[in-house]
Amino acid sequence: MAPPPPPSEQPEAAAAGAGAITKVLIVMAMEKEAMPLVNEFKLVRAEESIFPKGATWTRFHGNYKDLHIDLVMPGKDVVFGVDSVGTVSAALVTYASIQALKPDFIINAGTAGGFKARGASIKDVFLASDVAFHDRRIPIPLGKLSTGDSLDMSPEDEAAILSNDATIKDMEGAAVAYVADMFSTPAIFVKAVTDIVDGDKPTAEEFLNNLISVTEALGVAVTKVVDFINGKCISDL
Ligand code: ADE
Repeated sequence: MAPPPPPSEQPEAAAAGAGAITKVLIVMAMEKEAMPLVNEFKLVRAEESIFPKGATWTRFHGNYKDLHIDLVMPGKDVVFGVDSVGTVSAALVTYASIQALKPDFIINAGTAGGFKARGASIKDVFLASDVAFHDRRIPIPLGKLSTGDSLDMSPEDEAAILSNDATIKDMEGAAVAYVADMFSTPAIFVKAVTDIVDGDKPTAEEFLNNLISVTEALGVAVTKVVDFINGKCISDL
């Protein structure tokens, strides 16, 4: 039997045929994190809301290569006017988006705190192999990306996160995974490190100082991921 042609010689059209991923949903928490991708993929703000009246959730969309991309965010908190970060908003917007858009594939992209003891540095971008919540106090093994509703870290959280080998911690990943799993939608988690959780700088300060430059690195990494999945089927990944 002849060996298969190298990937570079395989016709893209075949990969882009039946079963290829066509609808990608990118779930993000903060507008600042999302803008490099909105620009890179030339997405436009959706005029017509697919979400229930009263929801603050925002959506950008457009076509990129063979893909239709929807990028959704929870939007601004109506009382405080800040981005609605955290697990509750992430789960809700993911749920509503899956129902309305029926994506083939979900990318949860965002920033994360990194543990230098596990090798993380500022601007590293991680593709998480597994995710878990760290503040639910349910004794199950945690994955590499650990999710909770706080930017800072209590001693209890620290013990839970570290004893389970997590390298990065965020505020949305496990919530998105929970909903994606519920509706059998494959999801991946791309997280760029803005702050070193086990370093000596105050987390909030380090996060804010690095946010802009790190989201550029995040944009580059997510673009690589999207280019990689373009024309492929889930089974190719
Ligand atoms: N996002 C960016 N830095 C974070 C941290 N230290 N904890 C949770 N989410 C984050």
